[in-house]
Amino acid sequence: MLEYSVKSGTPEKQRSGCLIVAVFEGRKLSPAARLIDQAANGALASLLRRGDLEGRLGQSLLVHSLPAVPAERVLLIGAGKERELHESRFRELTAKAATILKGLGASEAMSYLTELDIKGRDTVWKLRQTVEINEATLYRFDQMKSKPAEDKTRCKRLTLSVPKRSDLVPGELAVREGLAIAAGVRLARDLGNLPGNVCTPTYLADRARQLGEEQKIQVSVHDEHELRELGMGSFLSVSLGSRQPPKLIVLQYRGAGEHEPPVALVGKGLTFDAGGISIKPAANMDEMKYDMCGAASVLGAMQAAAMLKLPINVVGVIPSSENLPDGNANKPGDIVTSMSGQTIEILNTDAEGRLILCDALTYTERFKPAVVVDIATLTGACVIALGKHASGLLANHEPLARELLAAGKYTHDRAWQLPLWDDYQKQLDSNFADMANVGGREGGTITAACFLARYTKAFKWAHLDIAGTAWLTGKEKGATGRPVPLLTQFLIERSRKHGAPAETAGAADAA
Ligand code: BES
Ligand code: MN
Ligand code: ZN
Repeated sequence: MLEYSVKSGTPEKQRSGCLIVAVFEGRKLSPAARLIDQAANGALASLLRRGDLEGRLGQSLLVHSLPAVPAERVLLIGAGKERELHESRFRELTAKAATILKGLGASEAMSYLTELDIKGRDTVWKLRQTVEINEATLYRFDQMKSKPAEDKTRCKRLTLSVPKRSDLVPGELAVREGLAIAAGVRLARDLGNLPGNVCTPTYLADRARQLGEEQKIQVSVHDEHELRELGMGSFLSVSLGSRQPPKLIVLQYRGAGEHEPPVALVGKGLTFDAGGISIKPAANMDEMKYDMCGAASVLGAMQAAAMLKLPINVVGVIPSSENLPDGNANKPGDIVTSMSGQTIEILNTDAEGRLILCDALTYTERFKPAVVVDIATLTGACVIALGKHASGLLANHEPLARELLAAGKYTHDRAWQLPLWDDYQKQLDSNFADMANVGGREGGTITAACFLARYTKAFKWAHLDIAGTAWLTGKEKGATGRPVPLLTQFLIERSRKHGAPAETAGAADAA
């Protein structure tokens, strides 16, 4: 983790190991680059005329010891066409600068990229993004290597420039929010990347307890015996096919008054999903260790809320299990009784997420939540529909859906809404039980949500299907930590609107 500070000051006077400034296409200097150039008597401009940097996005040039400029280095980052500098380009060039910074000899740097004009985004937004992106760039997962590579990053401190002195206070709060989100993302990525033989339901429960010791979060864990007493026949049926005992992990963060109804976050915690008797094909099955990323995002967002001391109450509910084919495993055609009393015909044992979530959702009723959001790597169909860029969002309450969409937009951790119309419900009809656990190939993400909707009638509820967004595949295989930014932003906004006046910086996205 870098140490961040916020400063307002002109670049050509900064004593820094490295100043980071932008150059637009056509070698057009950004305002900060121009000030440096003027102090250095046009040395930057004449360097660019030699043709080393056009200013295209992705380009960069490191310049040492400019005359009359106290900074040791100036890092020029290509920013593309000035008029086209929007949100995702800003993120790209910030990531580019962060990657280069990692490899430099400078122990400290100051970025002026935070002063670039981004349509519809203020300084606070740019600072938060910068912190999150720098931390994500520094992330490594090598705790399972016998010899972790030594950390060669020299840079320890990053100063973020703001245009006005009046930006300093909101800027510092933005840094704190960025750091809390980054820490939540890191926790979620670590848990996701851990292999299934380490990250079991018991491990997740222990990690949640540890979080309870570090933060003002109360944690309790229900074991198999208690799940039986609660009547969670659906959840238990999934864990029967595994040697690892299931856990229901319950976390409570109380940042608001005790009568303030909590936001409930329910996260799917399948620490490995082999499909059960309806076993999955071998190719890429290792990726099903990521089937607990919903749970990980609940832990990450709750950690962030606690770090920021948000004036809000949050309950986290995490049903955790493995889904394996064993002698006692669910069989296609088996019928189980959920905690709600509704019976389920299990036509495909690989549709297990909804089987553990339905009981966790029923359990959540006891907290009389203001709203409930569940987060789950629920359907492969969602990856087909939306790819890796957007999480699927379905909700029984439009204003809640809009809040989540806006939070995703603001943090660039975006979600896209799909319909939850009753028309789809009949795909879940069963000849033998109250419902089947699968609804055929058509609209697979929607029918999965329709199943959950039968367990969420008592409250305002939204479902995030993160099957496409929780991890990357191929060469960049690894957990993303999504949707921790979306969830944290949602909590920040809610604590501002519904709770006591909060000390937060980010602004709501009006769009
Ligand atoms: N965990 C999977 C969903 C998944 C699959 C996420 C691939 C990411 C990539 C889930 O438990 C599952 O197996 N869903 C089935 C449901 C089907 C049997 C109705 C699926 O999507 O194939
Ligand atoms: Mn499955
Ligand atoms: Zn699954």
